[in-house]
Amino acid sequence: MNKVGIIGWPIEHSLSPAMHNAAFAALGMTDWYYDKMAIPPDIVGLSLRELRDHGYIGINVTVPHKEAVLRYVRADERAQLIGAANTIDFRTNIATNTDVIGLMDDLAAHGIDVEDRNVIVLGAGGAARAAVYGLAEAGANLAIVNRTLEKAERLIEELRVDAMPMTLDKAARGKVHLIVNCTSVGMHPNVDATPWDEAIPFPKGVTLYDMVYRPAVTKLMRQVEAAGGRAIGGLGMLVRQGAAAFTIWTGKEAPVDVMFQALRDELEKP
Ligand code: ATR
Repeated sequence: MNKVGIIGWPIEHSLSPAMHNAAFAALGMTDWYYDKMAIPPDIVGLSLRELRDHGYIGINVTVPHKEAVLRYVRADERAQLIGAANTIDFRTNIATNTDVIGLMDDLAAHGIDVEDRNVIVLGAGGAARAAVYGLAEAGANLAIVNRTLEKAERLIEELRVDAMPMTLDKAARGKVHLIVNCTSVGMHPNVDATPWDEAIPFPKGVTLYDMVYRPAVTKLMRQVEAAGGRAIGGLGMLVRQGAAAFTIWTGKEAPVDVMFQALRDELEKP
């Protein structure tokens, strides 16, 4: 049996097992299985060794372990710069961050090109770091807005990207092509929360990418649509970061449509 899986704490609500096991089934890969494992923070290093010793091919890593695992494996350049990894291949002991590919592939799938365009990133945590890395590499002009401004400054310094820390008020003025919400604000169960101050008008014709995927339509997405903009939820990023990990472990192209459907089915469950 080829085993892969995901570690996190808690991990009960992870959608990744459904997504990956559906992909294995669709490709007739009956000798592959994706597990979820609840690992408390104090035994992360030990768990990685155990999983490797027990023949796991690789794992995904989620909250709160994405930073901590870097101490125990070799991080590729992007995981190192971002300071967080979500995918490990135990055969090489290399960790990478497929959230970057997840976001950039999903933007591309929606026909969004960010080269030389003004982009606002909301947030400065782990998710924002992956987004800023990918968007900067793709040539976007970045403004980073965060509740704690110093954290935005630190992100820019550590990632060594050309970006500006800004207040929302200032960032929203002028031409803005894309807003990427990398905060957890508006995520279930806080569905009435939004990271965008109602008093600040949205830039004309803006597109929003909200990394939040539960609920499928967030308060922020509704705000943008009401202002005449385009809003995209984060489910595609979840699928595509998973698809990239799938390919790293199996060497096969992931059945993205099957993975989408598996997630939608899971999210519809009460
Ligand atoms: P993740 O790894 O998912 O990015 P994180 O590192 O905890 O999680 O980052 C969460 C982000 O959401 C941060 O940018 C955080 O802002 P602060 O840096 O000021 O903490 C932002 N965030 C979370 N709750 C928020 C809230 N109620 N209002 C505004 N921003 C919030």
